[in-house]
Amino acid sequence: MSKKVLFVCLGNICRSPAAEGVLQSVAREAGFEVHVDSAGTSSFHIGEPADRRMRAAAAKRGYDLTSRSRMVNRRDFSEFDLVIAMDRNNYRELSVLAGGSNPKLTMLSDFLDERWPRDVPDPYYGGDEGFETVLDMLEAACPKILAKLEGSSQEGSSSGPST
Ligand code: 4NP
Repeated sequence: MSKKVLFVCLGNICRSPAAEGVLQSVAREAGFEVHVDSAGTSSFHIGEPADRRMRAAAAKRGYDLTSRSRMVNRRDFSEFDLVIAMDRNNYRELSVLAGGSNPKLTMLSDFLDERWPRDVPDPYYGGDEGFETVLDMLEAACPKILAKLEGSSQEGSSSGPST
């Protein structure tokens, strides 16, 4: 069965829809089937497409962002194999929703080295360069996320313990 990944930010119109698009593209190129979705911790933009500035920046790099904003919910922790928060605020909100620490819950920057910031900076109130920074971080992290999924999908797939 294909692995399922959920990216989560605040509004689900900038960072997490872009993450969804980048991971889908990386997985498609690798020929690895992954179910990717995104959600927000807020209800601010429910039903809206991704922010047009984010869509434009993503399109320039070849990513088509088609998601509509939805709010994350408790069931997502049973549905998905990995829930990836964009920043520490999202992470805190998700921990509360999950009822405490949860092994499925990680941050995007857990897949990056220390040269990158801990949080994916929220680009909503800033200039165009903020959207490029988001895409730079996602393009660095998504191959690592895919590698983790590939590794975990092989666990338990052998016919028995090797001696
Ligand atoms: P996102 O960006 O969390 O990356 O989708 C934001 C979108 C909207 C708002 C804040 C951040 N807002 O305050 O409406």
